Amino acid sequence: MNPVIQFEKWFDEELEKSNLKIPSACCFSTIGKDGYPNSRFVSLKEVKNGKFIVTGPLNSRKGEEVHKTPKVALTFWWTATERQVRIQGDACLISREEAIAYFEERNKDSRIVSVAFEQGKEIKSVEELNELFLKQKTIVGDKSVACPKHWGGFSIQPKRIEFMEFEESRLHKRTLFEYDTNKWTKQFLQP
Ligand SMILES: Cc1cc2nc3c(=O)[nH]c(=O)nc-3n(C[C@H](O)[C@H](O)[C@H](O)COP(=O)(O)O)c2cc1C
Repeated sequence: MNPVIQFEKWFDEELEKSNLKIPSACCFSTIGKDGYPNSRFVSLKEVKNGKFIVTGPLNSRKGEEVHKTPKVALTFWWTATERQVRIQGDACLISREEAIAYFEERNKDSRIVSVAFEQGKEIKSVEELNELFLKQKTIVGDKSVACPKHWGGFSIQPKRIEFMEFEESRLHKRTLFEYDTNKWTKQFLQP
Protein backbone atom coordinates (compact mmCIF):
# COMPACT_ATOMS: atom_id res chain seq x y z
CA MET A 1 0.00 0.00 0.00
CA ASN A 2 1.15 3.55 -0.72
CA PRO A 3 1.60 5.22 2.70
CA VAL A 4 0.55 8.61 1.30
CA ILE A 5 -2.93 7.14 0.78
CA GLN A 6 -2.84 5.84 4.34
CA PHE A 7 -1.85 9.36 5.49
CA GLU A 8 -4.79 10.93 3.65
CA LYS A 9 -7.18 8.39 5.17
CA TRP A 10 -5.90 9.07 8.71
CA PHE A 11 -5.97 12.84 8.12
CA ASP A 12 -9.59 12.70 6.93
CA GLU A 13 -10.51 10.65 10.01
CA GLU A 14 -8.81 13.22 12.27
CA LEU A 15 -10.49 16.16 10.49
CA GLU A 16 -13.87 14.52 10.95
CA LYS A 17 -13.39 14.11 14.72
CA SER A 18 -11.21 17.11 15.59
CA ASN A 19 -12.55 20.39 16.97
CA LEU A 20 -9.16 22.12 16.80
CA LYS A 21 -8.93 25.50 15.07
CA ILE A 22 -5.88 24.45 13.05
CA PRO A 23 -6.04 20.67 12.69
CA SER A 24 -3.50 20.84 9.86
CA ALA A 25 -0.77 22.00 12.27
CA CYS A 26 2.38 19.92 12.13
CA CYS A 27 5.93 20.22 13.36
CA PHE A 28 8.29 21.12 10.52
CA SER A 29 11.91 20.25 11.25
CA THR A 30 14.93 21.44 9.37
CA ILE A 31 18.66 21.06 9.83
CA GLY A 32 19.97 24.32 11.24
CA LYS A 33 22.95 26.07 9.67
CA ASP A 34 24.89 25.29 12.84
CA GLY A 35 23.86 21.61 12.68
CA TYR A 36 21.25 21.77 15.44
CA PRO A 37 17.82 20.48 14.43
CA ASN A 38 15.28 23.30 14.27
CA SER A 39 11.53 22.74 14.58
CA ARG A 40 8.45 24.91 14.40
CA PHE A 41 4.78 24.37 13.72
CA VAL A 42 3.38 25.14 10.30
CA SER A 43 0.12 24.29 8.69
CA LEU A 44 0.08 21.58 6.04
CA LYS A 45 -1.51 23.12 2.97
CA GLU A 46 -2.31 19.90 1.15
CA VAL A 47 -0.98 16.63 -0.17
CA LYS A 48 -0.49 17.04 -3.90
CA ASN A 49 0.71 14.29 -6.25
CA GLY A 50 2.09 12.35 -3.30
CA LYS A 51 3.98 15.36 -1.91
CA PHE A 52 3.37 17.39 1.23
CA ILE A 53 3.03 21.17 0.76
CA VAL A 54 3.99 23.82 3.31
CA THR A 55 4.24 27.56 2.66
CA GLY A 56 5.71 30.72 4.15
CA PRO A 57 8.40 33.36 3.62
CA LEU A 58 11.45 31.87 1.90
CA ASN A 59 13.81 34.46 3.41
CA SER A 60 12.95 33.20 6.91
CA ARG A 61 15.24 31.02 8.98
CA LYS A 62 13.45 27.87 7.85
CA GLY A 63 13.67 29.02 4.23
CA GLU A 64 17.42 29.54 4.50
CA GLU A 65 17.88 26.23 6.27
CA VAL A 66 15.93 24.28 3.65
CA HIS A 67 17.88 26.06 0.92
CA LYS A 68 21.15 24.88 2.52
CA THR A 69 19.98 21.34 3.42
CA PRO A 70 16.74 20.23 1.76
CA LYS A 71 16.32 17.18 4.05
CA VAL A 72 13.32 17.89 6.29
CA ALA A 73 10.76 16.23 8.57
CA LEU A 74 7.07 16.78 9.29
CA THR A 75 5.56 15.38 12.47
CA PHE A 76 1.87 15.18 13.31
CA TRP A 77 0.19 14.38 16.61
CA TRP A 78 -3.51 13.96 16.09
CA THR A 79 -5.29 14.23 19.42
CA ALA A 80 -8.80 13.19 18.33
CA THR A 81 -7.65 9.88 16.86
CA GLU A 82 -4.54 9.51 19.07
CA ARG A 83 -2.20 8.94 16.19
CA GLN A 84 1.29 10.14 15.35
CA VAL A 85 2.72 10.37 11.84
CA ARG A 86 6.40 11.06 11.17
CA ILE A 87 7.54 11.98 7.69
CA GLN A 88 11.08 12.51 6.44
CA GLY A 89 11.78 13.65 2.94
CA ASP A 90 13.35 15.97 0.43
CA ALA A 91 12.03 19.51 -0.05
CA CYS A 92 11.81 21.33 -3.38
CA LEU A 93 10.58 24.85 -3.99
CA ILE A 94 7.05 25.05 -5.38
CA SER A 95 6.61 27.10 -8.57
CA ARG A 96 5.86 30.83 -8.50
CA GLU A 97 2.38 30.11 -9.92
CA GLU A 98 1.65 27.64 -7.11
CA ALA A 99 2.97 30.11 -4.51
CA ILE A 100 0.65 32.82 -5.84
CA ALA A 101 -2.32 30.44 -5.71
CA TYR A 102 -1.61 29.49 -2.07
CA PHE A 103 -0.99 33.15 -1.18
CA GLU A 104 -4.36 34.14 -2.57
CA GLU A 105 -6.07 31.60 -0.29
CA ARG A 106 -4.78 33.50 2.77
CA ASN A 107 -6.98 36.09 4.47
CA LYS A 108 -6.20 39.76 3.80
CA ASP A 109 -4.57 40.51 7.16
CA SER A 110 -2.23 37.54 6.75
CA ARG A 111 -1.32 38.76 3.27
CA ILE A 112 -0.67 42.25 4.62
CA VAL A 113 1.58 40.77 7.35
CA SER A 114 3.57 38.92 4.67
CA VAL A 115 4.12 42.19 2.81
CA ALA A 116 4.79 44.39 5.84
CA PHE A 117 7.25 42.17 7.69
CA GLU A 118 10.37 40.10 7.26
CA GLN A 119 9.64 36.98 9.29
CA GLY A 120 12.24 36.38 11.99
CA LYS A 121 14.00 39.75 11.76
CA GLU A 122 14.36 41.72 14.98
CA ILE A 123 11.88 44.54 15.71
CA LYS A 124 12.33 47.12 18.48
CA SER A 125 8.89 46.96 20.07
CA VAL A 126 5.31 45.71 19.83
CA GLU A 127 4.27 49.35 19.20
CA GLU A 128 6.48 49.48 16.10
CA LEU A 129 4.96 46.19 14.96
CA ASN A 130 1.44 47.63 15.25
CA GLU A 131 2.45 50.87 13.54
CA LEU A 132 4.00 49.06 10.59
CA PHE A 133 0.96 46.84 10.21
CA LEU A 134 -1.52 49.75 10.31
CA LYS A 135 0.64 51.74 7.89
CA GLN A 136 0.67 48.84 5.43
CA LYS A 137 -3.08 48.31 5.91
CA THR A 138 -3.70 51.97 5.00
CA ILE A 139 -1.46 51.74 1.94
CA VAL A 140 -3.30 48.63 0.75
CA GLY A 141 -6.82 49.96 1.43
CA ASP A 142 -9.33 48.20 -0.84
CA LYS A 143 -6.62 47.07 -3.25
CA SER A 144 -5.55 43.45 -3.56
CA VAL A 145 -2.26 42.30 -2.03
CA ALA A 146 0.22 40.76 -4.45
CA CYS A 147 2.31 37.78 -3.39
CA PRO A 148 5.76 39.11 -2.39
CA LYS A 149 8.78 37.75 -4.28
CA HIS A 150 10.17 36.12 -1.14
CA TRP A 151 6.95 34.23 -0.31
CA GLY A 152 6.60 30.64 -1.47
CA GLY A 153 6.62 27.10 -0.24
CA PHE A 154 8.05 23.62 -0.32
CA SER A 155 6.85 20.41 -1.76
CA ILE A 156 8.16 17.53 0.33
CA GLN A 157 8.76 14.20 -1.37
CA PRO A 158 8.49 11.59 1.38
CA LYS A 159 11.23 9.01 1.86
CA ARG A 160 10.12 7.54 5.16
CA ILE A 161 6.66 7.63 6.79
CA GLU A 162 5.95 6.11 10.17
CA PHE A 163 2.43 5.68 11.53
CA MET A 164 1.87 5.14 15.23
CA GLU A 165 -1.49 4.27 16.70
CA PHE A 166 -2.07 4.43 20.43
CA GLU A 167 -3.55 1.29 21.95
CA GLU A 168 -5.18 0.98 25.39
CA SER A 169 -2.99 -2.06 25.96
CA ARG A 170 0.10 0.18 25.56
CA LEU A 171 1.15 -2.06 22.67
CA HIS A 172 1.15 0.90 20.33
CA LYS A 173 1.17 -0.09 16.70
CA ARG A 174 4.06 1.35 14.67
CA THR A 175 4.31 0.87 10.95
CA LEU A 176 7.28 2.19 9.02
CA PHE A 177 7.26 2.66 5.26
CA GLU A 178 10.51 3.41 3.41
CA TYR A 179 10.92 4.37 -0.21
CA ASP A 180 13.86 2.70 -1.87
CA THR A 181 14.63 1.77 -5.49
CA ASN A 182 11.24 2.89 -6.76
CA LYS A 183 9.08 1.09 -4.23
CA TRP A 184 7.74 1.35 -0.71
CA THR A 185 8.71 -1.31 1.81
CA LYS A 186 6.82 -1.82 5.05
CA GLN A 187 7.81 -3.09 8.47
CA PHE A 188 6.26 -3.17 11.92
CA LEU A 189 8.29 -1.71 14.77
CA GLN A 190 8.27 -2.54 18.46
CA PRO A 191 6.49 0.10 20.55
C1 LIG B 1 -0.32 26.29 14.41
C2 LIG B 1 0.74 27.11 13.72
C3 LIG B 1 0.76 27.17 12.34
C4 LIG B 1 1.72 27.91 11.68
N1 LIG B 1 1.75 27.90 10.31
C5 LIG B 1 2.76 28.51 9.67
C6 LIG B 1 2.89 28.37 8.25
O1 LIG B 1 2.09 27.69 7.57
N2 LIG B 1 3.94 29.01 7.65
C7 LIG B 1 4.85 29.75 8.37
O2 LIG B 1 5.78 30.31 7.76
N3 LIG B 1 4.77 29.87 9.70
C8 LIG B 1 3.75 29.26 10.37
N4 LIG B 1 3.68 29.35 11.73
C9 LIG B 1 4.72 30.13 12.46
C10 LIG B 1 5.96 29.23 12.66
O3 LIG B 1 5.78 28.37 13.75
C11 LIG B 1 7.26 30.05 12.88
O4 LIG B 1 7.09 30.93 13.95
C12 LIG B 1 7.66 30.83 11.64
O5 LIG B 1 7.48 30.08 10.46
C13 LIG B 1 9.11 31.29 11.73
O6 LIG B 1 9.96 30.16 11.77
P1 LIG B 1 11.50 30.27 11.31
O7 LIG B 1 12.05 31.48 11.99
O8 LIG B 1 12.14 29.00 11.80
O9 LIG B 1 11.52 30.40 9.84
C14 LIG B 1 2.70 28.63 12.43
C15 LIG B 1 2.67 28.57 13.82
C16 LIG B 1 1.72 27.82 14.45
C17 LIG B 1 1.75 27.74 15.97
